[in-house]
Amino acid sequence: MSNHETKKGFSHEKIETSNFLMIVLILVTVAFGGLVEIVPLFFQKSTTEPITGLQPYTAVQLAGRDIYTREGCYNCHSQMIRPFRAETLRYGHYSVAGESVYDHPFQWGSKRTGPDLARVGGKYSDEWQRIHLIQPRDLVPESIMPAYPWLEKDLVDAEAMPAHMKALRAVGVPYTDADIAGAAEATKGVTELDALIAYLQVLGIHLK
Ligand code: HEC
Repeated sequence: MSNHETKKGFSHEKIETSNFLMIVLILVTVAFGGLVEIVPLFFQKSTTEPITGLQPYTAVQLAGRDIYTREGCYNCHSQMIRPFRAETLRYGHYSVAGESVYDHPFQWGSKRTGPDLARVGGKYSDEWQRIHLIQPRDLVPESIMPAYPWLEKDLVDAEAMPAHMKALRAVGVPYTDADIAGAAEATKGVTELDALIAYLQVLGIHLK
C-alpha cells in the first residue's frame, strides 16, 4: 500500500510489532485490573473479621482438619454453600467469608462428588460419622465414598501440634500461650478418627 502513513508519537503499530512492549503493557494492564479487584478485599470488614462467636479450632479439631487435608476429602467435598435457593434449602445458610478467617488454608473447594460439608457439624451423631468413615456403605449402601478404616487405629501426631498452632498464630489465629502449651497434652492418644470427627462436628455451627 503506497498511501500507508506512519504517525509520529503514540502508535498502536509500535506496540503491536514489539514483543517486549506488548508483554510489558499486557502485564501492567492485567496487574492493574487485578489490584483494583483484590486490594479492597483486604480492607473490607466482612472479609477479614470473624463472625461473632467464631472460635479457633481446638488442638483436637485442628489435628482432625490436618487428617481431612491429608486424606484429600476436599477432592470430593466442597465447604462453600453458594447463595442460591437450591443450595440454602439443602445445606442451610450460605457461607460467608467471616466463617473462614481462621482457616489456613481454607477448604472451600469446588468439586462436589459428595455433598457440601460447610454445615455438616451436628447433622449426624459422632457414632454415625464413625461408622460412615470406617465403611460408608454400612450406612449408605450406594455410596462411592472410600472407606478410611486406618483412621481408627492411627494416633494423631500430638508433638507436632504446638508448633502448628504457633504458626497459625503468626498468621492471625488468636491462640493463647495456654492453648499452645496444652496442645500436645490435649491431643495425646487421640485417634485420627476421633480428631476428624471433632473437626467435622464444628463445621459451620457458628452461623445457622
Ligand atoms: C471419592 C469421593 C469422596 C471422597 C474422597 C470422600 N467422600 Fe465423603 N462422601 C462422598 C459421597 C459420594 C457421599 C454421599 C454418600 C454417603 O453419604 O456416603 C459422601 C458423604 C460424606 C458425608 C455425609 C455428608 C452428608 O451431609 O450427608 C461426610 C460427613 C463425608 N462424606 C466426609 C468425608 C470425609 C471426612 C472424607 C475424607 C476422609 C471424605 N468424605 C472423602 C464422596 C467422597
